[in-house]
Amino acid sequence: VTILFYRRDVGGEELSTAAIPTDATVRIWRPSEHGFPPRDSLRVRNIIWWGFSSVRLFARRDFTELTIWREDRLLHRLIVTPRWYRFPFMERGDLQLGDLWTCPNERGRGLARAAVAETHRHFAARAERFWYVVDAKNEVSVRFIESCGYRLVGTGERTSPFGLRALGRFRLDTPAFSGGPPK
Ligand SMILES: CC(C)(COP(=O)(O)OP(=O)(O)OC[C@H]1O[C@@H](n2cnc3c(N)ncnc32)[C@H](O)[C@@H]1OP(=O)(O)O)[C@@H](O)C(=O)NCCC(=O)NCCS
Repeated sequence: VTILFYRRDVGGEELSTAAIPTDATVRIWRPSEHGFPPRDSLRVRNIIWWGFSSVRLFARRDFTELTIWREDRLLHRLIVTPRWYRFPFMERGDLQLGDLWTCPNERGRGLARAAVAETHRHFAARAERFWYVVDAKNEVSVRFIESCGYRLVGTGERTSPFGLRALGRFRLDTPAFSGGPPK
């Protein structure tokens, strides 16, 4: 499976996008600050992320879940991950967007891009660059991140040591442009 590595500097110009709907609410959960996942964020993955954050597996304390709600209904979710074992290609000042999901009947309305713009604003003072790592076969996701102004910096793969995907790392092998590995 080919993995595509995308990146965007966040210091520069803002992503132009539709606003988050006025009847929706953005919630932020950061385990290093808020502790164990609260009711709205209580899912197995978040308990694992909370554990990883508690034992300081991440290079920085910025692991975050951003969710958008209309009353009790989850409209969108994404996570922001610092450098850690699985993402050795990142630098310490970098963050990565991941696990983006928009509720199926809310798709195509600019919600995910609005969530990414909100994430950029939220981290503008703390992160220089954002990464996005995507399976080349996920065409919607590829189109989506390109629409957010992210640039392809290389291709690679997810390793599976001893056949164990959970121990895998994302390896950036081939820079998309000549002139050496991406800086
Ligand atoms: C990928 C995903 C999060 C996009 O959410 P969304 O809220 O529908 O995205 P947006 O409405 O903000 O779309 C922004 C841009 O992405 C692109 N895009 C989104 N859906 C697309 C589709 N079905 N086909 C082609 N391009 C698409 C378009 O360029 C769009 O901009 P435009 O509407 O101005 O043309 C959503 O489709 C999803 O949850 N997919 C399943 C989970 C997944 O694959 N997540 C990504 C892997 S981490």
